[in-house]
Amino acid sequence: RHKPRVFSGVQPSGGLTLGNYLGALKRFVEAQDSGTETIYCIVDLHAITVWQDPAKLTHATRELAAGFMAAGIDPARSILFNQSQVSAHAEMAWVFNCVARMGWLNRMTQFKDKAGKNRENASVGLFAYPSLMAADIMAYHATHVPVGEDQKQHLELTRDIAIKFNHDYGVDFFPVVEPVIEGVATRVMSLRDGTKKMSKSDSSDMSRINLTDDADTIAQKFRKARTDPEPLPEAVAGLEGRAEARNLVNIYAALADTTPAAVLAEYGGQGFGAFKPALADLAVAKLSPLSAEMARLMDDPAEIDRHLGAGAERAAAIAHPILERMFEIVGM
Ligand code: ADP
Ligand code: NA
Repeated sequence: RHKPRVFSGVQPSGGLTLGNYLGALKRFVEAQDSGTETIYCIVDLHAITVWQDPAKLTHATRELAAGFMAAGIDPARSILFNQSQVSAHAEMAWVFNCVARMGWLNRMTQFKDKAGKNRENASVGLFAYPSLMAADIMAYHATHVPVGEDQKQHLELTRDIAIKFNHDYGVDFFPVVEPVIEGVATRVMSLRDGTKKMSKSDSSDMSRINLTDDADTIAQKFRKARTDPEPLPEAVAGLEGRAEARNLVNIYAALADTTPAAVLAEYGGQGFGAFKPALADLAVAKLSPLSAEMARLMDDPAEIDRHLGAGAERAAAIAHPILERMFEIVGM
């Protein structure tokens, strides 16, 4: 009933990591290039659920737009825009705050992780984050949402909100979205701790590869990445219980557009002393053109702003009629 439409977002809350690239941007480009309608959003309203310095937020927004375009998002073929420029997101989120239940939001593990021990001092926005994410998606009647593994629980909540809204108002208005969590890089792990995901907000810069890291830094970070002393196994089953080894093999496979089995067919039996430099070379080969293009785009911030402004107009043209119809359904 609803035509396929892909939506996803990334927060302008710091520089992009290899996790964001493999788990999100690279897959966003694949969706765009497959010919599906694609809408990508820089979610600044989400970013301010934790403190953001205003000047840094402005810079990070442009840098993220540059990252999208450098990765291959074409602002003519995809809609690329900034969340706060389309008011439908915040307006629809309010209605969803009134649909979602406290108990549902209380179960969100990301809130618990991000709020930490001092929950009383977390922003109300951080708690209500999933309602805004539901609005991002449903303001476009999006059907497919490519995300990393960390967003699975939020997407289930988006589905719950759609189902409850449709049920409460006796309509079949909002599509129930399909999460698209596919590939070997849906959860790229920290280079320092194989149990934590690689994140732009981790305090240790050695835990992540930033898209803007130079070749030496990338090589050093992989060289210092935590691993066990065993050589790589010959088959994927041998990665069981070896989170760090698995992570590096998965990163290699994702960067090379191949499978972990194929990587192990080549490197199985070899130690990390050989594998890590090969991985670093591959990462530099894939990422350095991207970061060079990002830097080139960042030389002309006005041009980036023009792309985002045009994207916001196209986004609003889709979202506003859906918002108006939702208000009518609610009786407004
Ligand atoms: P971060 O968690 O780095 O702050 P966001 O919350 O803005 O990034 O997430 C942007 C996208 O990147 C989401 O689709 C998220 O699932 C994906 N993502 C973030 N970190 C990783 C990771 N380590 N591995 C795979 N995907 C990730
Ligand atoms: Na995240």
